[in-house]
Amino acid sequence: MCGIIGCIGRGERTLETLVHGLEKLEYRGYDSAGIGLSGETLEICKTAGDIADLRAALDSQSLTGGSGIGHTRWSTHGPPTDANAHPHLDCTDSVAVVHNGIIENYRSLRDQLRADGHTFDSETDTEVVPHLIESGLNAEQSPEDAFRSAISDLEGSYAIAAIIEGADGLFVARNDSPLVVGLGDGATTESEGGEFFIASDVPAFREFTDRVIYLEDGEFARLDDGLTVTDHTGEQLSKEVHTIEWSAEQTGKSGYDHFMLKEIYEQPRALRQCLRGRVEEQTATVDIGALETLSPPSVQFVACGTSYHAALYGAQLFRDAGVPAQAFLASEFATAVPPIQSDLVIGISQSGETADTLSALREANRRGANTLAVTNTVGSTMDRECDHTLYIRSGPEIGVAATKTFAGQLAAVNLLTLATVEESQSKRTVLPALRELPGDVQYVLDSSDAEEVAEHYGNSKSYFFIGRGYQFPVALEGALKLKEISYEHAEGFAAGELKHGPLALVDSETPVFALVVGDGEKARKTVGNIKEVQARGAPVVAVTDEKSDAHRYADHVLHIPENTPRTAAILTNVQLQLVAYHIANQLGRSIDKPRNLAKSVTVE
Ligand code: AGP
Repeated sequence: MCGIIGCIGRGERTLETLVHGLEKLEYRGYDSAGIGLSGETLEICKTAGDIADLRAALDSQSLTGGSGIGHTRWSTHGPPTDANAHPHLDCTDSVAVVHNGIIENYRSLRDQLRADGHTFDSETDTEVVPHLIESGLNAEQSPEDAFRSAISDLEGSYAIAAIIEGADGLFVARNDSPLVVGLGDGATTESEGGEFFIASDVPAFREFTDRVIYLEDGEFARLDDGLTVTDHTGEQLSKEVHTIEWSAEQTGKSGYDHFMLKEIYEQPRALRQCLRGRVEEQTATVDIGALETLSPPSVQFVACGTSYHAALYGAQLFRDAGVPAQAFLASEFATAVPPIQSDLVIGISQSGETADTLSALREANRRGANTLAVTNTVGSTMDRECDHTLYIRSGPEIGVAATKTFAGQLAAVNLLTLATVEESQSKRTVLPALRELPGDVQYVLDSSDAEEVAEHYGNSKSYFFIGRGYQFPVALEGALKLKEISYEHAEGFAAGELKHGPLALVDSETPVFALVVGDGEKARKTVGNIKEVQARGAPVVAVTDEKSDAHRYADHVLHIPENTPRTAAILTNVQLQLVAYHIANQLGRSIDKPRNLAKSVTVE
C-alpha cells in the first residue's frame, strides 16, 4: 500500500533522507514514486516504476529545499503512470500533496472544483486535495487554515502530507490511515528547531530516531521549527512520546538474498521474544498481564490472509479448551453471528492496520463486544482502538509474504488460551513444548531438504497441501505462501475434503504436500488420504515427524522434530515456507515484493 515520508530540519540531506525513506517503505508494495521539496520554490519529481527509476529521474532535475515529502503509490484510482504518481499539485504548482488511503467523495469534489475553473492532470482521488487547498489560499485563508478546511471537505480514509510554497514546513492529517511523527536530533514536543519526520511506518526514519508520536484519527500536525498537534477543532494536544525498541539494522537484509529468507531464519529468535518473560514452566503459569482475567463465554476471530490462517488455528485452540469459537474472514464479518456484550472478538493482524480487519473490529465494538488485537505493531491503529492488545513481538517484517509473524501469531494465541481458558494439565504438556519450539525451528532450518524438494517439483502444473486439525490452517498457509511469491497455482485443503471434489484435479503433475504429525487418529486418516492421491498418480511430499509412519508412503520427506500436535504446526509451516521460497527463487520471482501485493492493505 502507499507509503509516505516527510522531513524538515535535515538541511542539505533532505532529498537523500526522503529517497532513502522511500526505499525503506518499498516493502509495503508500490508501483510509482515521487518527491516534493519546498524551499525558495516548490518542486516535485515523480515517476512510474521503482525507486531506482525515481533516482534516475532526480539525476536530471535539481531539487532543493529544507522541507519535503515523498510517496510510494500502490494504484487504486488510475493505472501506475507518471501523472498518477504523487505528489499532486494545484493549478499554480505551489501546493504539493501526498496521500495514502481513499477519498470517497472525490468525484463530487472534482466536479465542483472543475466548475470553479480548476484543471486536473491525473485520474487520482488525491488530486482534489491540492486544489481544495488552493481554493482556500485564493480566499485569503492562511496556509494552515486552507489545509484544515480542505481536509474537512474529505470523506474516506487518508494520511495526508502537504507542502505549500511560501509557508514553512509540513502540514499533515490522518483519518483511518497510519501516520507517525519522528522526533530526531534536537527535536522534542516543545523544541524550537530540530529534525522532524513523518511516515506511514517507522522503518522509513528509524535510523534517525527511536522517538515517535502516533497521530490519531482526526488529528492534524504542523512541523516547522517545532511540532504542533491539534484536533479537528484546532485545539492543541499534548502527545505521548513512545520509544521504538527495535534497531535500524533489524530492517536490513544481513547478508541474506531476500528479506523473506532472513525472516524465515529469524523465527527462533522471534519465538523466543514472543515467549520471553511470559512462560513459567515450573509453576505451569503463563503471564500475559491483565489479559489473564478474560474469560470469554465465546470467541470470534477476525483476520485476513495469513493472519486468517492463524485465526483458524486460534479458534481451534479455544474450541479444544471447551470455549465456542469461530474464525471469520474480516471482510465477511458483517454476515457473522453478532457477538454479544461479553463475547471476545479477536483481530489478528501483523500490521495492525489492515482495513478489513479494522472495520470488523469497529463493527464488533459497535455491537458492544470486548475486542483484542493480536499484532506485531505497537502503536498501530488496532493496538490503539481495541480494548486489549497481545503483542507477538516478532520484530519488523519487511518481506510482503508474512513468515515469522505467522509463527509469532500461533505462539501468541497459544499463550492466550493457556492463560485464559486452559486447565493446568494442558499447561504442563504445552509449556515444555513451547520452550522446545525455538530450538526445534532452528533444527528444521539447519536440516531442511526443502531446496532439494523445490528443485524436484519446481516445474509442476499445480501444488496441493493437505492437513487435518491444527495442520489444516498450515495447509492453507503453505498454499498461500507458494502462490503469492511463485505465482504458481497452489491450493490448501482439509485432508478429508479431497475426495469430495478436488481429487478430480490430482494427477502425476500435482505434487501433494501432506502434513502428518504424531500417530493419532488424524495422522492415521491423513495417511489414508496420502494413499488416495498416490492411487491417482500424484507424488507425495510428507512433512512429518518420527512418530507418524507417513514417511513409509511418501515420495519425499521433510522432517520435523517431535512436538505436541498443536505446536508442531509452527514446524511444518517452516518447511513449507522454505519450499515456497526455493520454488519462487528458482523461478526468479520478485520474492520480497510480489506483483500486485502490498504489505499493509489499508483499503477495503
Ligand atoms: C501474507 O503473506 C499476506 N501477504 C497477506 O495475506 C496478509 O497476511 C494479510 O493482508 C493480512 O495482513 P495483516 O496481518 O497485516 O492484517
